[in-house]
Amino acid sequence: MALTWLFAERSTGNIAAYMSLIADAIKLSTTEKELHNLDYPFKTIPAMKIAKLAVSGPYQEKYSGIGSLMIELSAHIAEACNDQYFACRFITVDADIEHNWSVIEFYRKNGFIPNDEMNNKKRKVISMRKDIVIQD
Ligand SMILES: CC(C)(COP(=O)(O)OP(=O)(O)OC[C@H]1O[C@@H](n2cnc3c(N)ncnc32)[C@H](O)[C@@H]1OP(=O)(O)O)[C@@H](O)C(=O)NCCC(=O)NCCS
Repeated sequence: MALTWLFAERSTGNIAAYMSLIADAIKLSTTEKELHNLDYPFKTIPAMKIAKLAVSGPYQEKYSGIGSLMIELSAHIAEACNDQYFACRFITVDADIEHNWSVIEFYRKNGFIPNDEMNNKKRKVISMRKDIVIQD
């Protein structure tokens, strides 16, 4: 179950990219919580997950920044949820390293860091998070 956003090119109507969002929760260690100045008594913290994110090949060449734009939009959606609907502190992703290891770099450039607590098993994805609260 997911809610999918489609991004179409205005002039042609072609689908250039999509992103699917779902509710999530992540487990953080005490050290990880300290990193975010998160004084929260529970181990599991509410989050919103980007379950799918992709830009069509020709549009990756035609325009740069569509992937980053979708992440920016997801941050605005998470902020709107916090303002009006439900609390969520992080945006999460499972970076698919099976098909492309370097995709982690894309997420790092967009403010994501790996979740130590959730990456202790051998997996085909790297669980990552982005704090939507701007720290001073
Ligand atoms: C990953 C993906 C969504 C990135 O979208 P994009 O529109 O090409 O990314 P952006 O143009 O916003 O890139 C932002 C930065 O990340 C870098 N980057 C993008 N994709 C990267 C990759 N696969 N590996 C390393 N760096 C990457 C860009 O070079 C750019 O760096 P810069 O700011 O220093 O110039 C897109 O390449 C894609 O759809 N890939 C196939 C599907 C996929 O891997 N989805 C993620 C699964 S978890």
